[in-house]
Amino acid sequence: MRQSKTHASSSTKPRVAIAIMAAGKGTRLQSKHPKVLNEVGGKSLLAHVIAAAQQVVAPQNIFAIIGYQAERVRSAVKDTGVQFVVQEPQRGTGHAIMCARRALAGYDHVIVLSGDAPLITPATIAKLRDFHLQHKPAMTILSTELPDPTGYGRLIRKGKSGEVQAVVEEKSCTPAQRKLREINSGFYAFAVQPLFAHIENLKTDNPHAEYYLTDMAEVLRKARQKVLAVKTESPAEILGSNTREELVGLDRKMRRDKCTQLMASGVTIFFPETCVIDADVEVGADTIVEPFVQLLGRTRVGSDCRIRSYSVIQNSEIGDGVLVRPGCVLDEAQVANRASLGPYAHLRPGSEIGEDAHVGNFVETKKTRLGRGSKANHLTYLGDAQIGEGVNIGAGTITCNYDGVNKHKTIIEDQVFVGSDATLVAPVKLGKGSYVGAASCITEDVPADSLALARSKQIVKEGWAKQKRAAKK
Ligand code: UD1
Ligand code: CA
Repeated sequence: MRQSKTHASSSTKPRVAIAIMAAGKGTRLQSKHPKVLNEVGGKSLLAHVIAAAQQVVAPQNIFAIIGYQAERVRSAVKDTGVQFVVQEPQRGTGHAIMCARRALAGYDHVIVLSGDAPLITPATIAKLRDFHLQHKPAMTILSTELPDPTGYGRLIRKGKSGEVQAVVEEKSCTPAQRKLREINSGFYAFAVQPLFAHIENLKTDNPHAEYYLTDMAEVLRKARQKVLAVKTESPAEILGSNTREELVGLDRKMRRDKCTQLMASGVTIFFPETCVIDADVEVGADTIVEPFVQLLGRTRVGSDCRIRSYSVIQNSEIGDGVLVRPGCVLDEAQVANRASLGPYAHLRPGSEIGEDAHVGNFVETKKTRLGRGSKANHLTYLGDAQIGEGVNIGAGTITCNYDGVNKHKTIIEDQVFVGSDATLVAPVKLGKGSYVGAASCITEDVPADSLALARSKQIVKEGWAKQKRAAKK
């Protein structure tokens, strides 16, 4: 077969690029967002595909083909360091690759991935590449057999050689072709030279009036180029997400796999089918996760913790031996070893809970450090507060951190005792070892080791109630 001159004549390693088709609108999802930014397993479809591609080639050799809401897609994944090609307008998968012609000029081969099939693994991409480089066809299609091939393009093989004659899209299949179970995964490898020598022969004579990349099989065959297919043994990897139902199905599979992985590494997850754990979450051994827990984003949980039901923990770091009682909500919080939270604690961004500290029911913290062994057990708001060690925050205490314009700090030094229902009007400082009487409204700093009382004196009128009742009769 004819080969690109560069490839045939040089003994150096072939230059391989990866192109990820991510320009489509995703009409079948009925979404206002670009399809590839829809999330499964807590990450966008495209981010999953890029992550797999990056295990195979360096980011500067990865080209994301973007089009529909291109700028949104670009900014969502630009941190990965991949390159971008813009396809505008979007006239089909074949057209997407036409648009990448200049970007791919310096390469011998290109692996084409679909931005909406997030389960693809680096191992399968490498297998496709290796097969392609070894057998040297112009086009290699990654295929698989599905029990239900509905919606996928079918592979038509040629006699004994097994070479691929054509790929027929579901909508154009004859009844006999529709019965074929070997399908096109939407992943391909091409030799760059024959690909672009013949891509102009693609036509739009199909139900969508688009350029189908799949038609390259027939185009190349007619140009006497070899087209092969390699089957993957793990059909689940190629599943796409054209519909919401498929999207949610992929999400479910990823969550299940994540739980299985965590359990294999020593984490107990009761009723794992009810838990939502994102791909990048880490959990230490002997931690117990109860039903209906969500661990999201970059969350890291240590070992020997117990995360009780209905807690939603996002982008947070939790040490070892921490007890999270039911119904806690954490976002960008840090919780040190052996602390306990909840039930129903709300730790907002910038909360740092020290070792052995307690944050109890209906306590909200924000940009607040609660020192080692300190307790805020009931019905409290702590915002913009620096709280030392061994401090007791009484029930119903509130830091008034906001004056309507600016936020102010409350500083509570070690060993302070704040009585229940105290109102601490920031900026204010409670000195080391001081006491604040219950229901005080503290507007001025309290010196160390002193007692501050800021409430009106109690008046008792003896017999008053009895007289009132008598007067009513
Ligand atoms: C495609 C294949 C089908 C295969 C299936 C596997 C074609 C014509 N059909 O169908 O044989 O079985 O994948 O999942 O290729 N895209 C662009 N620009 C466009 C159009 C699409 O970048 O102009 C992107 C989409 O964003 C998507 C990918 O290409 O990420 C695949 O497009 P999609 O419309 O989902 O193709 P399928 O109908 O799934
Ligand atoms: Ca698709």
